[in-house]
Amino acid sequence: MTATVSGPQADQAPSARRGSYWITTFGCQMNKADSERMGGILEAMGYTPGNDEHTADLVLYNTCTIRDNAEQKVYSYLGRQAQRKRVNPGLTLVVAGCVAQQEGESLLRRVPELDLVMGPQHANRLEALLTRVQTGQQVVATDEHHILEDITTARRDSAVCAWVNVIYGCNEHCTYCVVPAVRGREQSRLPEAIRLEMEGLAARGFREVTLLGQNIDAYGRDLPGITAEGRRAHTLTDLLGTVHDVQGLERIRFATSHPRYFTDRLIDACADLPKLCEHFHIPFQSGDNAVLRAMARGYTVERYRRIIDRIRQRLPDAAISADVIVAFPGETDAQFRRTLELIESIGFDQVNTAAYSPRPGTPAADWPDQLPEAVKVERLQEVNALVERVAAERSARYLGRQEQVLAEGVNPRDPDQLMGRTRTNRLTFFAADPGDGRPYAPGDLVDVLIETVRPFSLSGRPLGREPVH
Ligand code: SAH
Ligand code: SF4
Ligand code: F3S
Repeated sequence: MTATVSGPQADQAPSARRGSYWITTFGCQMNKADSERMGGILEAMGYTPGNDEHTADLVLYNTCTIRDNAEQKVYSYLGRQAQRKRVNPGLTLVVAGCVAQQEGESLLRRVPELDLVMGPQHANRLEALLTRVQTGQQVVATDEHHILEDITTARRDSAVCAWVNVIYGCNEHCTYCVVPAVRGREQSRLPEAIRLEMEGLAARGFREVTLLGQNIDAYGRDLPGITAEGRRAHTLTDLLGTVHDVQGLERIRFATSHPRYFTDRLIDACADLPKLCEHFHIPFQSGDNAVLRAMARGYTVERYRRIIDRIRQRLPDAAISADVIVAFPGETDAQFRRTLELIESIGFDQVNTAAYSPRPGTPAADWPDQLPEAVKVERLQEVNALVERVAAERSARYLGRQEQVLAEGVNPRDPDQLMGRTRTNRLTFFAADPGDGRPYAPGDLVDVLIETVRPFSLSGRPLGREPVH
């Protein structure tokens, strides 16, 4: 035993003890990535992860407002915490994310117990904002803000797969969507900063990175520079070229793609770069051109089909997933049927479905031809049943095949199994111990013989490890 605690660590120790924190995250991968960075900031400040939302000294809700039910969820959580704060004034209560941005000051009126309301663009400023809270102020941070490069190490949930933001915000004007209002204008990170982050992740043992943006195809359009051929210097395709050879990373993914901007050049790059996984998440939202026009999506069903045809020409086994909205204002039964037809004929591996929900401040919320709740429920059920059937048909192709699975962690329902994903993003379970005294571990690339297929997951027998590069 030679270790002694000395130097800066010991100097920092007294001020570093701040109690426990708890973060609950709602919504999309952007919010999950923001929460991991805010967790990192809290730990650097001296907070420790708590085991319970109802005893933690600092509680942070990172919220989502994409649909009304997402927004309402947070109010019930906040009600309970507000009660706790009345008996325990030492509790620090924070609302971050998209509801915070949308509601701002009015959240303080609704829940006066709150200490801090902060929009998504302020996530990296959490420490400065909390410092103001500690002087006894209630703080609201929702002004348009240039997102600073984060200097704190994120507290990542996984030790194998990481998210890396490449572009924040969205400049589109889809008539149903709150994201541009709550996430602000597009801000692309510089390729060097992204690569540096990925190198750091690889050095710490991460094997897979998903590059994130609400509209990732817009990457780089706010950065300066034009190439000799007259193209803009920074595009997603160029970025993939810049980061592809980061040593130690085995897989690269990106999301979310927008059919309006998705290019053949991008498909070619994905086919040519071996680490790019054969999975594309390209929301289509509706299978009817008039509905797409009303949504202001900027593409037609024909264009969408051409993109998928092109992907399948270059990458025949690629998985395609998407998002769809049913019962958009004015959607007729015939238009809804065209959405069903598109799902059936494309053969999606997975589709996230939602019934249209009017959002404050968006154009479609004020249109007179809103559909009744009963139609929403009926269409949602019908589309969900179809999505499951089509996904089951897509899963069937894996039966008897050998698939490369990146082990991510233990199956929460069976501690003897590991779970991971195929390159095409199908969740796959397999035995952790092949019986040779060398059990598999998260981070291993395992060849799995697929023996059972379900609509959205697979199970199989592990055959051996693949070398990690
Ligand atoms: N940037 C992505 C999607 C972001 S929001 C894109 O352009 O496709 C995630 C999904 O939520 C959307 O794809 C859409 O299907 C759904 N969504 C967004 N606003 C909605 C609303 N008002 N009602 C129902 N679903 C909505
Ligand atoms: Fe919303 Fe449209 Fe932007 Fe997607 S592209 S985040 S749906 S406005
Ligand atoms: Fe929700 Fe905000 Fe994401 S509204 S879907 S958390 S961008």
